Amino acid sequence: MSPEELFKNLNARIVRLDSDAEIKPFESDDNDLDNFLLNDAKDYQNSLLSVTYTIQSDSDTIAYYCLSNDRLSQYMEEKSVWNKINRLISNKKRRKSYPAVKIGRLAVSKKFTDKGIGKMIIETIKEFYKNSYLQYAGCRFIIVDAYRNALPFYEKNKFKYLTDNDKNDSTRIMYLDLKAY
Ligand SMILES: CC(C)(COP(=O)(O)OP(=O)(O)OC[C@H]1O[C@@H](n2cnc3c(N)ncnc32)[C@H](O)[C@@H]1OP(=O)(O)O)[C@@H](O)C(=O)NCCC(=O)NCCS
Repeated sequence: MSPEELFKNLNARIVRLDSDAEIKPFESDDNDLDNFLLNDAKDYQNSLLSVTYTIQSDSDTIAYYCLSNDRLSQYMEEKSVWNKINRLISNKKRRKSYPAVKIGRLAVSKKFTDKGIGKMIIETIKEFYKNSYLQYAGCRFIIVDAYRNALPFYEKNKFKYLTDNDKNDSTRIMYLDLKAY
């Protein structure tokens, strides 16, 4: 079944998490991510630090993700990577950092992993930000501090590594150029 058909069958919809919104039960493979949604997401939103979107069926939270404004910055040690990024931008517009939207958190319920929902979320974020007429502020890249277990997921979704320096860390910085799509 395609994720679109699954959405239809579950009567699923994307809901921006407002302070009075009910959060339906959610359990992913990561306790910290579950706790964030259930206990902290609204506080972060009220503090204007992130915006959370949930995908809700009538009974469950199927997935959620949080977005914040951020930037993609040059790592001095990785001049070659930065040169590659700079080549995406015309000469006179090149800088030491570029506006980006950061996926702060992303999790799919255990019951619904491997059904294309994570991919659909990335596509939704891409679609929104790559359309310049929808942008309220400039944004060229999507970035994420990706958990090790999720690296193949982001690779499949065309994210690239910014540096090799975090190769052995628990998370790695990855980016996606919105103009490439
Ligand atoms: C990582 C996560 C968001 C992926 O969501 P998902 O809905 O299961 O992923 P999808 O079904 O959309 O997968 C898209 C592609 O990535 C691949 N993929 C997903 N997770 C993968 C993994 N852990 N390892 C290898 N490949 C993976 C899928 O096989 C699929 O490949 P395909 O396009 O060739 O079929 C989900 O497993 C999750 O919530 N994990 C726990 C929390 C977490 O780690 N979040 C990431 C925080 S940075």
